[in-house]
Amino acid sequence: MPRTRTTYVYIYLDEGPVPAGRLDMTEDGRNSYATFQYGARYLRRSNSVPVDPAALALPDPSGAARTFQTAEGFNLFNGIRDAAPDGWGRYLMRKAADSENLEEFDYLVASADYRVGALAFGPNPTDGPKRMAPWGDAEPIGEHFDLAELAEAAERVQSVDRLEPDLRRILEAGSSLGGARPKAATTHNGLPWIAKFSAKEDTYPVCKTELAIMRLAQHCKLDVPETDFATILGRDIYLIRRFDREIAGNQLRRIPFASSLTMLEAHEVAAHRYSYRDLADVLRRFGSNPRQDLRELFRRMAFNILVGNDDDHLRNHAFLFDGRGWRLSPLYDVVARPRAGPSGSLVLAVGERGHEATLANALTGAAAFGLKNDEAATILEDLRVLVAARWKVSLSKAGVTAIDIERLANCFAETNKVDWRGLPE
Ligand SMILES: Nc1ncnc2c1ncn2[C@@H]1O[C@H](COP(=O)(O)OP(=O)(O)OP(=O)(O)O)[C@@H](O)[C@H]1O
Ligand SMILES: [Mg+2]
Repeated sequence: MPRTRTTYVYIYLDEGPVPAGRLDMTEDGRNSYATFQYGARYLRRSNSVPVDPAALALPDPSGAARTFQTAEGFNLFNGIRDAAPDGWGRYLMRKAADSENLEEFDYLVASADYRVGALAFGPNPTDGPKRMAPWGDAEPIGEHFDLAELAEAAERVQSVDRLEPDLRRILEAGSSLGGARPKAATTHNGLPWIAKFSAKEDTYPVCKTELAIMRLAQHCKLDVPETDFATILGRDIYLIRRFDREIAGNQLRRIPFASSLTMLEAHEVAAHRYSYRDLADVLRRFGSNPRQDLRELFRRMAFNILVGNDDDHLRNHAFLFDGRGWRLSPLYDVVARPRAGPSGSLVLAVGERGHEATLANALTGAAAFGLKNDEAATILEDLRVLVAARWKVSLSKAGVTAIDIERLANCFAETNKVDWRGLPE
């Protein structure tokens, strides 16, 4: 039996959360779908931001009220789905609810303040956002836990079936964020940050490696948020400053966020059908500074090739609204992992040779980023030289042992190709 549930979508603007529209989600197995209508008052605002710039572009306020419906095969609009948790948050929520049967709607309305971007949800359009959690105690507990407590809870939760009351702290701080790996929202030096922890099944030091690669990216002058690292009682914690929160005076501003899944109206499982060229097209279509961002995107693609970051799926590239249009978000979730051979391929296609992770392939795709061949070749070679000279030092400075550095060496094979511009082998 199909079942329809309703929630009101709020968006945080400078003046606080305002109701943007009404979402109805119909659960019907594979035929599940959603509809959305913007509120008339929201559309008349001078500062309204689309809830989803691709599938829910703001209609003309003077026109007839429009009801949007999800495209075939989607149970929710991607732009709203971005505000719901992924693997880790859902895992915590299932444990808290002691149920395997939560639906997309439950995950969405149970997520809370720490979710990415500027959206929020409430049961009606008048009383503001309110968390509706299937495990009861719906209101955020409002306590701040220190990193040691969060790290301990993130570790322990991976070996229990049900969240005991003392583990609720990780639910509060960790369940609203996206991504598969253990993590929690936290405050660091008075600002909002994200802490990422080890996972039970890790076979190499992921937190230290992520720190090393992000620092390496910074060394290569990519746009990288501030990062930090802590080891507390033997537990590794990688920290990254949130780029979707800003402190303005004594107010916390939330910056609208859209993943590239949203921008491309893509299905999660179809990421491999997309390319960096598609992301470049997004910047041309929605970007407020495409020239600068296209160059940055090209350099990120090259960096992913040079460090063997082959988890570059569409949720790992995102855009932020700057008041006029969309900018590429700062870099996140770039990490190397041990692999069997020296050659690799990326999730997103790179150039004429498809997904092949080589600089030669990247060069064939340069025109899509508005780059001339010579200019692109110089960018690629400069990056290669920087990464070649630095990757080992960077891993070692982050505390990765010589043995693990050796296990990661295949990721950096492309940095050894001094004559990558020569004829393809
Ligand atoms: N610095 C940041 N500021 C704001 N939001 C962020 C930041 N870093 C990550 N995010 C958001 O949190 C989500 C999860 O983070 P991240 O991708 O690092 O986690 P992950 O668990 O390693 O992901 P994956 O499932 O891709 O392995 C991202 O998809 C993004 O929405
Ligand atoms: Mg990710």
